[in-house]
Amino acid sequence: MTNADLGRAQALITSIPDYPEPGVNFRDISPLLADGPAFTAVTEALVAPFVGRFDFVGGLEARGFLFAGAIAAMTGAGILPIRKAGKLPKPAAAVSYSLEYGTATIEAPDVLHPGDRVLLVDDILATGGTLTAAQALVTELGAEVVGSAVVLELTDLVGRAHTGDVHTVFTA
Ligand code: PRP
Repeated sequence: MTNADLGRAQALITSIPDYPEPGVNFRDISPLLADGPAFTAVTEALVAPFVGRFDFVGGLEARGFLFAGAIAAMTGAGILPIRKAGKLPKPAAAVSYSLEYGTATIEAPDVLHPGDRVLLVDDILATGGTLTAAQALVTELGAEVVGSAVVLELTDLVGRAHTGDVHTVFTA
């Protein structure tokens, strides 16, 4: 990784106003994913503080899967796919959380053992609802959350007030 790759990466995350609904400023990481060296640099920066400290990397559906897969291949860790409700045939646990309107539920497969060390990764930290629920999900399964890492934290939404400490590659 070079500093130039990492420096270029943040500019590759674009903002789409009023998507998927009026008033929401959607962050699109597609151009970042399309730039191989920038994606590699971001993935390396995402995992850097945690190397050697986790057995599983938990990726949050859907975009968190991309970074979780890359980190797993890079480090030899297993993958814990944290799914939206209804995608797993036999979820081992489920956690529901509040959205602006309504609730959402995430689920995990039965692959963890007590004491397994899990690093959670996602692309965006917004309100923190998803990541906080993922932390609770891993804990409910008897495993240990050793860290949470996101590519971009939207600081205005103060998600970390709910999640606790989160390692962020970029802030906006
Ligand atoms: C986005 C993003 C995070 C979450 C952050 O996922 O990828 O997972 O929202 O929001 P929060 O901090 O307010 O919970 P989204 O639900 O849009 O799913 P996707 O990755 O499948 O598009």
